[in-house]
Amino acid sequence: MCGIVGYIGERQAQEILIKGLSRLEYRGYDSAGIAIVNDGLAVRKKSGKIAKLSESLDQSPLRGCLGIGHTRWATHGPPNDVNAHPHESTDGSFALVHNGIIENYTSLRDMLSGRGYTFSSQTDTEVLVRLIEDVHKRTGLSLGKAVRQALSQVHGTYGIALVSRDDPDMLIAARKGSPLILGVGEDEYFLGSDAAPIIEYTRKVVYLNDGELVVIRRNGFKVFSVDEVKLNKKIHELEWDLEQIEKGGFEHFMLKEIMEQPDSLENAMRGRLYDAEPWVQLGGLMDAVESLRNASRIVICACGTSWHAALVGEYLIESLVRIPVEVEYASEFRYRNPILRPDDAVLVISQSGETADTLAAVREAQSQNVPVYGICNTVGSTIARETDAGVYLHAGPEIGVASTKAFTAQVTVLAQIALRLGCNNTLDDAQMSEYVTALRAIPAQIKTVLKNAENIESIAKLFRYASNFLYLGRGPNFPVALEGALKLKEISYIHAEGYPAAEMKHGPIALIDQFMPVVFVAMKDSTYEKVVSNIEEVVARDGVVIVVTDAEPGELDHLCEHVIHVPKTLELLSPLLTVIPLQLLSYHIAVLRGCDVDQPRNLAKSVTVE
Ligand code: G6P
Repeated sequence: MCGIVGYIGERQAQEILIKGLSRLEYRGYDSAGIAIVNDGLAVRKKSGKIAKLSESLDQSPLRGCLGIGHTRWATHGPPNDVNAHPHESTDGSFALVHNGIIENYTSLRDMLSGRGYTFSSQTDTEVLVRLIEDVHKRTGLSLGKAVRQALSQVHGTYGIALVSRDDPDMLIAARKGSPLILGVGEDEYFLGSDAAPIIEYTRKVVYLNDGELVVIRRNGFKVFSVDEVKLNKKIHELEWDLEQIEKGGFEHFMLKEIMEQPDSLENAMRGRLYDAEPWVQLGGLMDAVESLRNASRIVICACGTSWHAALVGEYLIESLVRIPVEVEYASEFRYRNPILRPDDAVLVISQSGETADTLAAVREAQSQNVPVYGICNTVGSTIARETDAGVYLHAGPEIGVASTKAFTAQVTVLAQIALRLGCNNTLDDAQMSEYVTALRAIPAQIKTVLKNAENIESIAKLFRYASNFLYLGRGPNFPVALEGALKLKEISYIHAEGYPAAEMKHGPIALIDQFMPVVFVAMKDSTYEKVVSNIEEVVARDGVVIVVTDAEPGELDHLCEHVIHVPKTLELLSPLLTVIPLQLLSYHIAVLRGCDVDQPRNLAKSVTVE
């Protein structure tokens, strides 16, 4: 949430900052701004998307080789020019960008107002700027030390970057709860909320941890801990490349990421599946397998789409390993005084590895001495680093705000975890072989679904003006119904609800009429006959039905006009196929409605505030 970039070196900073911000735009797009140090300090900021800022800079560029930039997802104060970052000190001597929330900003603001400071914006960030200038002036400390001291008075979360007119060879950054990465080049350094703005220039990065502050100069950088001890930070090598974070000829990132799923799932399984014992090997969980297998309960915490994947995981682990699983919204977990026992294990799922609520769930579980394992996509992300062990998705960067390939990769990893735990335990060799074979077949089956997807666009045309949708599924396809509804809401702004199909009778059936499309997932599994009865009940009330099924062509035609076929697989793996048409349906509806598919209003890809 909010993207930060920074540059110090010999090149002109403006182009690097603008390009970097564009690559972070998925984190927020309410306003954008940059500050560049040359002879003085120049700030340019605008409400709206980065393109608007970029146009104004084309007309009058800012020159200078040191700068910071920000793309905003508004928390405090509406998205306008004044509230846009960077925010400047009263005398214009330094400028700061901030990602996160200063929770005690009201009391700090009152204190600073009492000391004569004035504020032009409604942001919590400007309060931090005034606090730094106050400390700097009153104590005479260097700017770096004043930043550190001001941050010690702040409650909440921050990733900040700061440049000063008076020191054209210094970029300061610090983090607590909001991600920041330092890119290390040859006599030049880059800052980013993630690797996307950095990767074009260098693969060498340093991940800043909570409480750390870095002072960067052209000839080197120094990282300090909270208690001002200089740290020796490890330089990591980035795995992703530039091509992976570009659209590659697709109209939208979301479409590219939907189409990439055969490959991303291959990658999520690569080197992990075998034709005989050990059947499944997950390097990152090697030492954790016994603890998970012996757990009396596994609690899975996640948010959004990752939470839906967790629900599929519940079916997979309970069915295949017979360990009770509870799925929790990470945002609720720590606030309800969760009961964790020493023999519980916690699993967290997060594409970004930075979601604030999920990270808080990690820390809550660790504070209760329960082992915490992570399933993340972003290598080196905070959750990946803070969990005791974990598995990466290897799905490649996901840029579209609506998550698609991360969901299927998460389910694929959960299936592999369930198989690993079930092997030599609840599952015999024949079952292991059956699942491994079925899992391996999924990427090719997704290719078939994607190839035969033309009717999805025509269905989208018919229903693009609907104002409500209902999504129904059972068993492991109930979470798919939830995910289908979420995708539609997120990008087309149509109200949609997901329900277990049989629950329809307890409420949603009252909504059904000829204007309400009802999307069923009706796979020929243990509940097929029941779901078909639910379809009958909708049809009897003039409801319009769209079905995703592996039934034979023609089998459901007497009931519904709109049938989307997917190949057959094992019941527990079917979400990997059934979700694909629902992703495409929401994508096409959103495009037809003229919505901004990759950057839907009010949302952000990585929610680093509570
Ligand atoms: C945001 C995104 C969703 C995502 C959720 C959890 O709401 O818009 O697409 O599912 O955060 O994100 P995570 O990175 O933790 O999986």
